[in-house]
Amino acid sequence: MCGIAGYVGYREAAPLLTGALRKLEYRGYDSAGIAVLETEGVLTVCKAKGPLDALERRLAEGMPHGTLGIGHTRWATHGEPSDINSHPHTDTHGAIAVVHNGIIENYLPLKQWLEARGAVFQSDTDTEVIAQLVSYYYHVEEARTHTSLFDAVLSALYRLEGSYALAVAAAAFPDRLIAVRKDSPLIIGLGTKENFLASDAPALLAHTREVYYLEDHEAAVVYRDHVDLYTGEGERIIKNPVHVDWDTAAAEKAGYAHFMLKEIHEQPRAVTDTLRPRLVYDSAGIPCDINLDALDLFKTPLRRIVLTACGTAAHAAIVAKYAFIRLARIHAEVELASEFRYGEPLLSSDDLVIVVSQSGETADTLAAMRSVKKSGARLLAITNVVGSTLARETDATFYTWAGPEIAVASTKAFTTQLICLYLIALKAGFVQGALNNERYRAALAGLEALPSGIEAVLSQTELVQRFAARQFNKSKVFFMGRQFDYATALESALKLKEINYTHSEAFAAGELKHGPIALVDTDTLVVVIATDPALFDKVVSNIREVRSRGASTLVITRKGAGETAFAPVAEEVLTLPETTEAAFAPLLAVIPAQLFAYYCAVQRGNDPDKPRNLAKSVTVE
Ligand code: M6R
Repeated sequence: MCGIAGYVGYREAAPLLTGALRKLEYRGYDSAGIAVLETEGVLTVCKAKGPLDALERRLAEGMPHGTLGIGHTRWATHGEPSDINSHPHTDTHGAIAVVHNGIIENYLPLKQWLEARGAVFQSDTDTEVIAQLVSYYYHVEEARTHTSLFDAVLSALYRLEGSYALAVAAAAFPDRLIAVRKDSPLIIGLGTKENFLASDAPALLAHTREVYYLEDHEAAVVYRDHVDLYTGEGERIIKNPVHVDWDTAAAEKAGYAHFMLKEIHEQPRAVTDTLRPRLVYDSAGIPCDINLDALDLFKTPLRRIVLTACGTAAHAAIVAKYAFIRLARIHAEVELASEFRYGEPLLSSDDLVIVVSQSGETADTLAAMRSVKKSGARLLAITNVVGSTLARETDATFYTWAGPEIAVASTKAFTTQLICLYLIALKAGFVQGALNNERYRAALAGLEALPSGIEAVLSQTELVQRFAARQFNKSKVFFMGRQFDYATALESALKLKEINYTHSEAFAAGELKHGPIALVDTDTLVVVIATDPALFDKVVSNIREVRSRGASTLVITRKGAGETAFAPVAEEVLTLPETTEAAFAPLLAVIPAQLFAYYCAVQRGNDPDKPRNLAKSVTVE
């Protein structure tokens, strides 16, 4: 996720752009930049690695003057944070500048294609291909018909796969900006003799509250005194502006009350962004393989996988342990990073150690990673932050493309970590012969269905909210499940602990009689996670046992068979869509648990975004 801004009007563009970027920093803050069309027709780019302050210091040394410009605050995906990789990116001639929020999945073949036609690239980003492609269609011999910048942008879009919100400025067009979107937000703010572009409303509210929300595949040519709106095919459309009445804080959260709720709702997009660029599609557009070539994981057979992480990332690792065993038939184990570093682990060059960390800065996780490096075992990092210490110190890094996670309680980091881990487990299973082609392809289709599965779960939010209103004050909450569901139970209990400050514990359902049942009384809520029909009967007995001792119960189970099994015995049943593999169920089952923790915390009056005693990133031991 990144933030983009644009201005065309009568005022100095540079300070307006940096002001807008300040309001968009929550969307990304590893680098920032602006391009201003100076009065003599030169497109001047100024950009800097680091937070916006670094750009402002650079601008203080020499501010470009002009009344049209674009700006960007970056959360790196392709190419580490650096001055060169910061946006705006320009074509080889420096005459067309682009800012982009999204991911261009086919940027590598496009880059090669453009290089073969003389384009000279500066950065490692996917975005630069857009500037070069627009330039190609604007300039080249065989495309002379594309005389206008807008036509060139539309022609470039036909070549792009992935997601984008784009703002384009060109030296030859001092009167206009081009804006387009697909799967990433973009809005146009309407002023008087000036108009604005931004990823999100907070960047505009100081200047206007009248906006056009661009829909997918819509485009706009934004002039000083008017805006022309188009379909992606270039047909003119008419829309009514929308009046935004949020205050700035609400707008940063896209109208959600808290970042945590916003991030819960971002999961369909975050999962799609993490998944799709790694899938290979056949000519019918059906996923047929996973491309993990860059990670170079399968040069020799994987014999043992060791996963290490802290907190939520460790719970993703536990799901992955079961997934490696079930899908790839590879021995897998998980060690908390805080234990691993002191455990003198037995590792050899046959082992693959996967280190998982959203921030890539957790002290214990980094220490674990460094001890692995000394052991000679193969090492892979999964992280959300390009350029983080973990990414820099590890040769092979697999990124979750979740965008910045602001709330302390991890949500979209967990589900996107699961996607990365599922991809590795499935590929390992296929390459090493544990999965036949039929099951492999069915699993890939199942992965693609997960974002809509998340949407289906999110549609039951009201039910979770009502249940939370009745249960938030329980003094004990136990989450139980078996196998994959046990991993989900661990993550669910952590969420409730962190933000509702409830004593919540997870245990493997079979352990109930071995101790935990002694704690069950009328002030206890038991949340049962049961996604595997083969285990339903056993779980029904568990529910009867706790209900007979006065506990309240919620069951998170799959539609159909799960409802039939649990509706007669549980107080509340929440259903999930089916998944093609049992391994995928935690990615859906965790969503109601996230919502439940969130609504309990709100009911109690806690701030879910800033839980007491906790920091987003634990950079000390
Ligand atoms: O950035 P990391 O993934 O390394 O962070 C690990 C834990 O500190 C983190 O998951 C923590 O448990 C979260 N607050 C959980 O919501």
